[in-house]
Amino acid sequence: MYMREGDHVLVEVSNELPDKNITIHWHGIKQVRTGWADGPGYVTQCPMKPGTSYTYNFTVTGQRGTLWWHGHNNWMRYTVYGAIVILPKKDTPYPFPKPDGEIPLVLGEWWKGSMDVVLQQLARSGGAPNNSDAYTINGQPGDLYPCSRAEKVVIPVKSGKTYMLRIAGATMNGEMFLSVAGHKLTVVEVDASYTKPLEVDYVLVMPGQSMNVLLKADQTVGNYYLEVRPYIAPNVSLDNSTATAVIAYEGSHPHATPALPTTLPAITDSASANAFSKSLRSLASKDFPAMVPLQIDRHLMFTIGLAIRPCSNCTLGGRLSGVFNNISLELPKTALLQAHYFRKPNVYVTNFPDNPTSSFNYTGKPPSKIMAKGGTRLSYLPFNSNVQLVLQSTAIVAPENHPIHLHGTNFFVVGMGLGNYNASSDPLSFNLIDPPERNTIGVPLGGWVALRFQANNPGIWFMHCHLEFHTSVGLATAFVIENGPNPEDRLIPPPLDLPPC
Ligand code: C2O
Repeated sequence: MYMREGDHVLVEVSNELPDKNITIHWHGIKQVRTGWADGPGYVTQCPMKPGTSYTYNFTVTGQRGTLWWHGHNNWMRYTVYGAIVILPKKDTPYPFPKPDGEIPLVLGEWWKGSMDVVLQQLARSGGAPNNSDAYTINGQPGDLYPCSRAEKVVIPVKSGKTYMLRIAGATMNGEMFLSVAGHKLTVVEVDASYTKPLEVDYVLVMPGQSMNVLLKADQTVGNYYLEVRPYIAPNVSLDNSTATAVIAYEGSHPHATPALPTTLPAITDSASANAFSKSLRSLASKDFPAMVPLQIDRHLMFTIGLAIRPCSNCTLGGRLSGVFNNISLELPKTALLQAHYFRKPNVYVTNFPDNPTSSFNYTGKPPSKIMAKGGTRLSYLPFNSNVQLVLQSTAIVAPENHPIHLHGTNFFVVGMGLGNYNASSDPLSFNLIDPPERNTIGVPLGGWVALRFQANNPGIWFMHCHLEFHTSVGLATAFVIENGPNPEDRLIPPPLDLPPC
């Protein structure tokens, strides 16, 4: 899907599925004042029923680069997803030499069974879903999988030319390392925000993240593997196989066996995962300044992890749940944004705790009997308030890196570290000059990230772990941002074709 910065976009979506509801989310589009077009089910809209349609109506404001779209209810992004390319405004060049070609690469994940089969297994187990059976690049797993030798993605290149890979992380639960054998990669943009050019051997693309990477065809004419493999925290079981595409130089033998990259980090290499995330800097140029909030109005700290939630009739005496501050989000039967707009009572409360409900050493041995609570508790943010949000990983159940995605605005990643966040010393080393601007950030396993953003987009904005499994077990909350004083600071009224609840 192609659009241009500044475009007014209308996408009419018709649900032609015989038996499933759906919503579509335009992941990373800021949706300034147009929360109705954001798409998360039961957050900004109720899902479209079979045979109905809805027109998503939004303007691409102040962003250009690669993003993606996906189904956003009940694991629907399992198969429903694609790339969004936002070109710069007409006659506005990239802040780097124009590449000779651009190649969208959407990273996905595939199971042999249907979505229903995976969800049934998940419900039965009360724990984790089965591992996927393959990772994919533009729908193909590549020829290292025995089943699919013929159906591989081939990327033709010419010697001496530079190509921009537009990479979208649409995997369900896999956080992917990507590299190209024998070649360096230069990151120039993440989550549709320009970065200072960063030359690397590999990149890390978590579910929800996207990036533009320059690849120069500067090696001996031949075939080279582009390889994608997950980063998996120790003790977490995931499919650890490898998806490939082939970079094929003009003049090389089409069947020449490519070499494997030697630069791809090991599967459990947290240090390499964190090092990549930490080395990104926003471009912070005159044309693309980094508007980092300096005076903070709201200091928030949320712990993030998995916990056990008591349940009746369940085998393990509890169900695995995802929690921020020990609260697992329960979505209502109506949409939160409709309840907000029409002031419908008893749908949600705005008393989400600003800080962890019990403090302990988050990275050490957890206290016993920490049971998660359910609720529809949201955080209230006054219009234009400057927010600092620290996300602290806990290791109550499984030590993992969680990719946290915020809807409706980007944030600046001003700090990142291992261990417990220290509110008096860690801020001293925050980057307030050129931190990367993103919509999804991995919270390091046993560590923390500090994010800053201005709450200037009125509406209700979902924040969740973009591991689909974790979203589905409640690792989510939402921010309520009130209207500002002027007409141009208000959420627009709901469109007439908004799906009824
Ligand atoms: Cu990629 Cu809540 O979304």
